[in-house]
Amino acid sequence: MITTNPFFILSETVPAIATQSFVIVMAFLVIIGTLVDIIHKKNVKYFFENAKKAKQSAKKTLTTGEKTSVIIKTVSSDILTTSELGAGKRRVAHLLGMYGTILFWLASVIMIFCYSSIDSITPNIWPILWHVGAIMTVLGGSWFWFFLRADVYSEAHPWYRIIKADLFVLALLASALFGLIWSFLQSLNLNNRWDDKLFLILFIISNFVLFGGVYWSKFAHMFYKPGAAIQKNLSEADGSRDNLPPPADAPKQYGLGIDREKAKHY
Ligand code: HEM
Repeated sequence: MITTNPFFILSETVPAIATQSFVIVMAFLVIIGTLVDIIHKKNVKYFFENAKKAKQSAKKTLTTGEKTSVIIKTVSSDILTTSELGAGKRRVAHLLGMYGTILFWLASVIMIFCYSSIDSITPNIWPILWHVGAIMTVLGGSWFWFFLRADVYSEAHPWYRIIKADLFVLALLASALFGLIWSFLQSLNLNNRWDDKLFLILFIISNFVLFGGVYWSKFAHMFYKPGAAIQKNLSEADGSRDNLPPPADAPKQYGLGIDREKAKHY
């Protein structure tokens, strides 16, 4: 199973062009969902107005070299290693899910567009990356969902309590899990039995929810977070600090209670 391109087998019953069109529609849904989200929340407008305001209180003008260095550091730390999440399991779970998803999506696109036709031979690396990516997404996503989600971790809600904010993580988990099960059942060669078809339908539906739900879910954080991290680090480098006061030059006195319990209430 792990070295089989599931989309190649699928192309025996569903034309490759239909699967390719599905991917294009999903990409459009993401673009439309993000644009409507930007228009509705006015977050990008606020972001640029804030950046302009902060620039006025800059203590120094950054050279192009300094700006480039800040951006490179932000990409290599804040973005590629999600350093915002600090050291620990929250960051490990996110990295598992993030890189798993990137591998899963990348391998899907390559296999669907380059290796779905009857005369093609898929190099083993792509199905392996697809399956490994899906497994990493399921592991990282479930770890976050069952144990690390703020509602469960800090607010003592049961893990099965579902709210709108869970749409992204649940749709992501469902798409990776249903994709894996579909690929497994298809590789068993069950000769026109219903099992793999059911999971293919579930895989399609979960992708519709994931990519069609961008406006209502946290999907777009993967575009907003990198922009916000670059702006934050640039504003620290030019001294404007996003118009926030500098840290107080005084000893930290929080009282004895501060050591009694690890901070985890947001
Ligand atoms: C393919 C890219 C990415 C995927 C699949 C992904 C996935 C996720 C998921 C599933 C969550 C949990 C959402 C929830 O609260 O329900 C999450 C949260 C988060 N993501 Fe991402 N993410 C991606 C990219 C990024 C990037 C580039 C950054 C930062 C630069 C980032 C920073 C965060 C942060 C700070 C949280 C909150 C974590 C928490 O509450 O523990 N993510 N992400």
